[in-house]
Amino acid sequence: MAYRISNQFHFKDGYLFCEDVRVTDLAANVERCGVTPPSPLFVYSKSQLLENIQAYRKALATLSVPSVINYSMKANANVSLLKLIRGQGCCTTLVSGLELEFGRVAGFHPQRMMFNGNGKTRADVEKAVRLGCLVNVDSDFDCRKIDAVCQQLGTKTSVLLRVNPDVDPKVHPYVSTGLAGSKFGVCVDDVDQVVKMLSESSYLHLVGLHCHVGSTVRDVSVFRSCLQTLLDLRRSLQQRGFTDIRYINLGGGLMIDYETHADRTHPARLDTDEELKAIHSQIDSHDSHVQSQLNSVFDDYKAEKMARSQLLQRLASITQSTWKWNRQHTSLEIPTPADLIGSIRPLLTNEKDLTLIVEPGRSLLGNTAILMTSVLGSKKAGLKRIVCYPKFKKAAVWPCLMSEHIVPT
Ligand SMILES: Cc1ncc(COP(=O)(O)O)c(C=O)c1O
Repeated sequence: MAYRISNQFHFKDGYLFCEDVRVTDLAANVERCGVTPPSPLFVYSKSQLLENIQAYRKALATLSVPSVINYSMKANANVSLLKLIRGQGCCTTLVSGLELEFGRVAGFHPQRMMFNGNGKTRADVEKAVRLGCLVNVDSDFDCRKIDAVCQQLGTKTSVLLRVNPDVDPKVHPYVSTGLAGSKFGVCVDDVDQVVKMLSESSYLHLVGLHCHVGSTVRDVSVFRSCLQTLLDLRRSLQQRGFTDIRYINLGGGLMIDYETHADRTHPARLDTDEELKAIHSQIDSHDSHVQSQLNSVFDDYKAEKMARSQLLQRLASITQSTWKWNRQHTSLEIPTPADLIGSIRPLLTNEKDLTLIVEPGRSLLGNTAILMTSVLGSKKAGLKRIVCYPKFKKAAVWPCLMSEHIVPT
């Protein structure tokens, strides 16, 4: 029996594999290399990361304008990963002086780092300006601060203006960042005030527009609305003399497959009778034929012959008429980079002197790692079963292992 978590992590014959290495063999190897065996450790698949970058590259190559992948470092600032990402020709977006240091250590050229954020400290802005990074202007006060730093250093800086396009990304409010009222960027209606400051500054050179509407976006038409807003604004600013706006940074992160991934890495947690009963009771069927089909699927599931997502799919096909249940439990459509780019391609066909930037975080890294740890024991807590593992030795440094360093036993 084989399940796939992602292309490079999968279960085969009851064992979890990273690429073609059994994770239990890996644990034994790590122990031999002197890492205390029970210590939790992140295991990354290099191939999966390269595959994810390639998916963006392939999609972007279908556009009529040049493009850049700006990896959003907040997703994971592990320097080994950053080096790999840089080596693939990506740029990076960062939000603090510390991330700037990580970017430097990873070897990113300063002009390939974009310093974003609504709360940049003066010291961090100074660091970014001295190095020659691109800087995002997030508000009027941010604009004044960046301008003052540049004046003090006598250095001109290329900036992008982060715009709040007031577009609903249709995601959880906690990760929604582009509606009016959000704390990020300048609302389109207030852009004039900041643009005036930019036009009066001898130090700030407007080279791009940026927006980020939120994370876990499923409906890719959201990106089209944002891009339209940015292109309209670019045209209007060009008419007012800002003729060097060549970057359009279309932030907004794609949804990733949390459900299947979490599910398949933990087959043991799936089969509490209470949980199955709860699912069963939601399926409103009095038809005995349907009931017997359901029972057989539940039996297979309890025997670990299928993962939770497969269970849900099977239940959905048996209960096609139970629309409400299907909608709640099986609407797991994960958009791909090709979907994102496909939705915006028509808007770019006639654009000249423009480079499109996309700013993915979780959709590049989310499915590239597992947390490997020994289990100290498990206990029941209500409907859940809690698995306890040892704590990290140093909270601030989470050890990790990249697949290129994994040697099969
Ligand atoms: C400005 C900016 N860019 C990019 C990202 C990455 O988003 P995601 O991880 O959803 O791809 C974020 C996430 O918060 C962000 O705030």
